[in-house]
Amino acid sequence: MMLLRVAPIVLVLGLAVPAVCVAQGESETNSESQEMFLRYCGTCHGPQGVGNGVMSGFLKKKPADLTQLAKKNGGEFPFHRTMQFIDGTQDVRAHGDPDMPVWGEVFKHETAVSPTRQAEIRGKILLITLYVRSIQQE
Ligand code: HEC
Repeated sequence: MMLLRVAPIVLVLGLAVPAVCVAQGESETNSESQEMFLRYCGTCHGPQGVGNGVMSGFLKKKPADLTQLAKKNGGEFPFHRTMQFIDGTQDVRAHGDPDMPVWGEVFKHETAVSPTRQAEIRGKILLITLYVRSIQQE
């Protein structure tokens, strides 16, 4: 199918993958959440999330290895905290690192003004968080 062949190129360009791809995944993480991770997080945290993205060498602080979040938290993935960390508009990162963008703000600017705006932003952050949970290592 034509769309499938185009998808990887779209990924590389960092553009939105058509919702068509989402329908394939039965699991809670799917190509959409992976695409978002690559687009918003991969440059710093690396495509596998281990902290070796292309930008990582230019930052003062090394981006965290996101596959170790559960391990660092006694074996349980810190779901809520991760969501808040990405959102950044909560005060979890009041003294946090300026190298990591406040995605809550970025998504606000990307999303058109509408009553469903907040829900859309939460949805994006939730999908990314589910993806991060799916890459946890023992
Ligand atoms: C511009 C680079 C950059 C981008 C893009 C970025 N981060 Fe980060 N991130 C960092 C840095 C640097 C740190 C380390 C901050 C620290 O240790 O204080 C960090 C830390 C984190 C942490 C905290 C880890 C811990 O041990 O508590 C999480 C969670 C995280 N990032 C998730 C994400 C997710 C998910 C995305 C995509 C939505 C993302 N980051 C995008 C640079 C980035």
